[in-house]
Amino acid sequence: CGIVGYNGALDAKEILLKGLEKLEYRGYDSAGIAVRNEEGITVFKEKGRIADLRASVNLNVNADIGIGHTRWATHGVPNKLNAHPHQSASGRYTLVHNGVIENYHLLQKAYLKGIQMQSDTDTEVIVQLIDLFANEGLSTVEAFRKTLSLLHGSYALALLDQEDADTIYVAKNKSPLLVGVGESFNVVASDAMAMLQVTDQFIELRDKEVVLVHKDRVEISTLEGRAVDRKPFTAELDASDIEKGTYPHYMLKEMDEQPGVVRKIIQEYSDANGELAIDASILKAIKAADRLYIIAAGTSYHAGLVGKQYFEKLAGIPVEVHISSEFGYNMPLLSEKPLFIFITQSGETADSRQVLVKVKELNYPTLTVTNVPGSTLSREADYTLLLHAGPEIAVASTKAYVAQVAVLAIAAYVAGQSNGKEVNVDLKQELAIVANGIQTIVDSKEELEQIAEDYLKIARNAFFIGRNLDFCVSVEGALKLKEISYIQAEGFAGGELKHGTIALIENGTPVFALATQEQVALNIRGNVKEVVARGANACIISMEGLNEEGDRLVIPKVHPLLTPLVSVIPLQLISYYAALHRRCDVDKPRNLAKSVTVE
Ligand code: G6P
Repeated sequence: CGIVGYNGALDAKEILLKGLEKLEYRGYDSAGIAVRNEEGITVFKEKGRIADLRASVNLNVNADIGIGHTRWATHGVPNKLNAHPHQSASGRYTLVHNGVIENYHLLQKAYLKGIQMQSDTDTEVIVQLIDLFANEGLSTVEAFRKTLSLLHGSYALALLDQEDADTIYVAKNKSPLLVGVGESFNVVASDAMAMLQVTDQFIELRDKEVVLVHKDRVEISTLEGRAVDRKPFTAELDASDIEKGTYPHYMLKEMDEQPGVVRKIIQEYSDANGELAIDASILKAIKAADRLYIIAAGTSYHAGLVGKQYFEKLAGIPVEVHISSEFGYNMPLLSEKPLFIFITQSGETADSRQVLVKVKELNYPTLTVTNVPGSTLSREADYTLLLHAGPEIAVASTKAYVAQVAVLAIAAYVAGQSNGKEVNVDLKQELAIVANGIQTIVDSKEELEQIAEDYLKIARNAFFIGRNLDFCVSVEGALKLKEISYIQAEGFAGGELKHGTIALIENGTPVFALATQEQVALNIRGNVKEVVARGANACIISMEGLNEEGDRLVIPKVHPLLTPLVSVIPLQLISYYAALHRRCDVDKPRNLAKSVTVE
């Protein structure tokens, strides 16, 4: 979910709606805004997209203070009733919330027995509690503070008080939230991007602080009431990067940007002598570690699988890769000197952040690899490696994956060189070859569209197989297809398929097989024969030099360690066209959010 707030002189509605449009990547199953003027607080909410909300807003309501929310449902189905803002029974307080209140049932039983709840959300408990405490005689800020002290879980909150024309009450715990400052106005947003329309000056908030956002000033204090003085920072984001231009979808634009992203990364990670380099303190931290623990979710996890091979092969450092949502309660036995590497496009994923918080408590060093400077995981880790991919808006990650793999390759290579490890590769030159290879593939859209049509137009399910690095890419290919076309897909190690899953192969089942790794190319071709013998419709994607007659697509030759950067591209584009054929919403697939800020 994402939240916004505006308190100033202009028309709040429009600023809130525009802000929510920029936050839609955090969820888009329902949305709402609340604005306050002399006549009181008016709430507009709607199931569906911000566009649906916009259509329902009464343009005649003018107000200069308001809050808004776009939702990715956790408690309660996505409908108008459960959409935010939520109001207290008396109507005095109106609240938007991102996060999950774990003890809402207990709080409801303990304090709110007599109150008829209007929604199925955990959020409503918060606003009802504030109203209850205010009714008992507390001021709004005291009631807000008291309520916060009772909450267990994660939250980013913005509250309006019917009886106060000049304050948005704001707090956060674990969920991201920033206050933006301007001349005679102040704003609130889950992410700076939402409010770049009015300011680039933002104040970072710490967990459990109580923040009063007035028109002309921002007051921050700790939960205990101690005043906090914090200066704003400048958000270095280019608003024009987040426009779609002439592209029909962000995803297509972002896939096309991939050659440029690789080139930009080469440039950003070259030193004054033109040699690949990373920050000296990060290099030191990597070299000091006896084992790296890569923690990530979704596509970033898949990039981590490739990164493991880089650190082991190029730098000689052992690596474990873990899914962040599992790691917290299933922590493996750690080595003596671990370094934790968080891979996260957004830098906001709650599952990954909870691991970061935990390992920081244990005093282990931490490094975040992210696309978003100033994001929560970047701010909170000891070190950051940036992806330099530019904002990624489409929910299905493409250019960020490529950037993650490229940056991990550079970090591993630089660490290996500095350790004196003999690696016979000029990575800088090889990455330049990769950029050209990607270009060739994004220029072959017609062919990829045809493959999507031939293999996936009527498919119910699909398999992606590969061995070694090709296996890492298979799982990413399957995820892409599932995310945007809703075709059930599985990525599999070529050799493992026969141990059970091959039972699912029927006449016509599409199987995409990657063959870019020389030492296993023959084995994967053997696996293809096994599935074809059982009726599969196999599509072999091989690499120049390893190709054979009958391969459906041959990708340009690149260094064997870097094939994931190139072989993933046709899988992205095939998924894209499969989704288009099925008339799916490519940029905003059902049930998903770009950045999941709840655990
Ligand atoms: C969400 C997105 C995925 C993404 C994952 C991790 O589930 O839908 O596309 O891979 O989060 O996101 P992160 O920002 O941490 O890389």
